[in-house]
Amino acid sequence: MSKSFDVLVIGGGPGGYVAALRAAQLGFSVACCESNPYADPKGEPRLGGVCLNVGCIPSKAFLHTSHLFEEAEHAFAGQGIEVGKPKIDVAKMLARKAEIVTRLTTGIKGLFRKNKVTFLPGHGAFAGAFAAGWKIRVGAEEIGAREVIVATGSRARHLPGIPVDNQIICDNVGALAFDAVPKKLAIIGAGVIGLEMGSVWRRLGAEIDILEVGDRFLSAADSDVAKEAQRIFTKQGLRIQLGAQLGAVKAGKKGVVVAYSGKDGKASQIEADRLIVSAGRVPHTDGLNGEAVGLKMDARGAIEVDAHCRTNLPGVWAIGDVVRGPMLAHKAMEEGVMVAEIIAGQAGHCDLERIPSVIYTTPEIAWIGKTEQQLKAEGAAYRTGKIPFLANGRALGMGATEGFVKMLADTGTDRVLGVHIIGAGASDLIAEAVTALEFSAAAEDLARICHAHPTLSEVIHEAALACGARALHF
Ligand code: FAD
Ligand code: NAI
Repeated sequence: MSKSFDVLVIGGGPGGYVAALRAAQLGFSVACCESNPYADPKGEPRLGGVCLNVGCIPSKAFLHTSHLFEEAEHAFAGQGIEVGKPKIDVAKMLARKAEIVTRLTTGIKGLFRKNKVTFLPGHGAFAGAFAAGWKIRVGAEEIGAREVIVATGSRARHLPGIPVDNQIICDNVGALAFDAVPKKLAIIGAGVIGLEMGSVWRRLGAEIDILEVGDRFLSAADSDVAKEAQRIFTKQGLRIQLGAQLGAVKAGKKGVVVAYSGKDGKASQIEADRLIVSAGRVPHTDGLNGEAVGLKMDARGAIEVDAHCRTNLPGVWAIGDVVRGPMLAHKAMEEGVMVAEIIAGQAGHCDLERIPSVIYTTPEIAWIGKTEQQLKAEGAAYRTGKIPFLANGRALGMGATEGFVKMLADTGTDRVLGVHIIGAGASDLIAEAVTALEFSAAAEDLARICHAHPTLSEVIHEAALACGARALHF
């Protein structure tokens, strides 16, 4: 073995790099290996994983640009701003995104240097055990590690008969690199990526058709929120077909034809310039060679772990998208911190019930805790406080009056059980709800906290007041 570390992290995404940083802070010698160069011009492996390179960050950059474009096109005039018809320079939008990604990914290399984490560019694979831990082959080197944290993430789920070339038929990688606005864009899956990417390209002028196999729109969300979201997105121009069964998909150099049958069983087809396949993601363990050392996987190909991310092998942990639970960057990071702290003998903790969900559309959607349909199914006694953004002065000033905050609180204890937001700023507003649930707050606690005026956070305040039937502004 050429080198040995206390902790070796395989995979440099949000789970892996955060685990490495926290373990280094706690005094361990730490290395992290990563093999994917993503779009690095020199072809060198880049840190940040899917999230920074081809996920959260680039998609949010596009969502921001396209939101401004839409505001300029449709909202400026109503506020007395005349700018004429906006034009989008897609190359510039891509360059801006690339600059943000480069800044963040090189930033992580800087954080590694600052915290004395050794970056090992290369693919990591189990090469066996030795008395003091595990041997991991990284490229041509064999590295020793007392503890191994597997953070190898996920990749897009591709569908049989729909070959992704990331030109005409794209997964998230190609969908974040279109060199022009498609005239017509088809999307498979009305999940988070379908809605976010559909929104980006619709705002910039594409006609969007989304085919969703499920009968219910956004089935994981509170049904009130899902209903409102479907109404708003449809009004915006996203054509969403629920209960669609895919047929043959034929791609040529200039476009694609997607055959499907609708809810009524009627055969139909969509012709589009491009197709995005966003039908979920699968855990990524290719070439990890975990099976050679007996690493247990479940039927989905995810590495099996307990509540503290311990695998079946001593000293081997797994976190983030490669294990059970929501495939979210903040969940991966929480697990990374938890594992580093447990390795250090501390009481690491990550409650999967307390991971907020956010969809960065306009309006944004965010939630935490139980949905109303879950509470009903459990036979729970609860009170509801529901306040529209229309009743909020700041929202009116912003011209962002769509949506509502819905708070659900236990009838007996008044504890907040769930908060569901569709509206402007939902991605930030949800933080207060997460705090409330984490600290078992009552709706009355939130009602008694002073919220700055005029802010969107007052809608949360009013929803808490409404749980006690004493909303002041609605
Ligand atoms: P990953 O980010 O997948 O990182 C794993 C890394 O390990 C990869 O870089 C991979 O190259 C590397 N690797 C794999 N195998 C090896 C090996 N054997 N050796 C060395 N390296 C290896 N989540 C949010 O919370 N908010 C969002 O807004 C959001 N937006 C998204 C938008 C899109 C378009 C997509 C696709 C995803 C989005 N996600 C979002 C999900 C988020 O990106 C993932 O949940 C997160 O990246 C998971 O982190 P991870 O560290 O587990 O894995
Ligand atoms: P998803 O799980 O959100 O949605 C996939 C959708 O595709 C589902 O509605 C599913 O019913 C549908 N589907 C599956 N097979 C289909 C088929 N054959 N035909 C038609 N529809 C089909 O997955 P998505 O959007 O691919 O995103 C992957 C992951 O990335 C998600 O788990 C999410 O957690 C994460 N992500 C998070 C974001 C955020 O936090 N804002 C943004 C984007 C992605």
